[in-house]
Amino acid sequence: MVRKAVIPAAGMGTRFLPVTKAQPKEMLPIIDTPTIQYVVQEAIDSGIEDILIISGKGKRAIEDHFDRSLELEFLLNQKGQHEQFHEISRLSEMANIHFIRQKELKGLGDAISYARQHTGDEPFAVMLGDTIIDSAIPVTQQLIDVYNQFRQSVIAVEEVAPEKTHRYGIIDGKAIDERTYHLSGMVEKPETGHSPSNLAVAGRYILTPEVYKVLEMVTPGKQGEVQLTDALRLLLNRENIYAYRFEGKRHDIGNKLDYLKTTVEYALKREEFAEPFMEYLHEVVTREEKNGK
Ligand code: G1P
Repeated sequence: MVRKAVIPAAGMGTRFLPVTKAQPKEMLPIIDTPTIQYVVQEAIDSGIEDILIISGKGKRAIEDHFDRSLELEFLLNQKGQHEQFHEISRLSEMANIHFIRQKELKGLGDAISYARQHTGDEPFAVMLGDTIIDSAIPVTQQLIDVYNQFRQSVIAVEEVAPEKTHRYGIIDGKAIDERTYHLSGMVEKPETGHSPSNLAVAGRYILTPEVYKVLEMVTPGKQGEVQLTDALRLLLNRENIYAYRFEGKRHDIGNKLDYLKTTVEYALKREEFAEPFMEYLHEVVTREEKNGK
């Protein structure tokens, strides 16, 4: 049974400077909710209640966000802002959230190895803290369903355009049904034209504890970092690995354009904003089209 999730959130967020100079990218809000809160909610909606966040330098705001704020609770109560009070006090009770700090930024694979003691001999979910996925069934739940079938590691993948494969981990494998693949290889950020497929690793994984043993053997790869993709390629010599083309839409919050699009899409889904915001978007498009002529 998959009971634990690990959320790596130690990265510097250099793709999103300057806002990430003194603020974790995982705290960038989609309207009023930090990205990492959506990730924690996905874990909870997938039946996971124990979460380990791998944090690092400059990431205190994440800890504070999931901690109690008695002063704020007191103030909201006093002012009769009951709805906000419940929202704020719920945060510290959402799940059992633990933190550990990655001492040096040596890559995603290195970050995961910090979870070894916490997850022990259990399979666990890995959920990247800067990626949210909008779906009817939480993606981590979709992966857990595949895990329960095979009892082996499962990686969420999605199709990407050939000119984008160099940005991702890419899998090689054989389809065993419409959405599931049996892996034969994996490569981190292949050069354009050398990608084994167009199926990109999408920031959600279920991993077996055997991964810790291969992580010990991995040497720094792409960008001089210990890559999880390289560890999983080694894991393939010992165990089967599956990939699952999930149902849902992935949003990479670390990318500025993607972040803007996500904000628009999530605003349109909110009852209080849907109508006025749609009207505003129409206005902007009409004005810009006019100006363009
Ligand atoms: C990481 C992984 C990569 C994966 C990507 C998904 O890369 O190493 O395999 O495809 O996340 O977002 P990063 O984006 O941290 O460079």
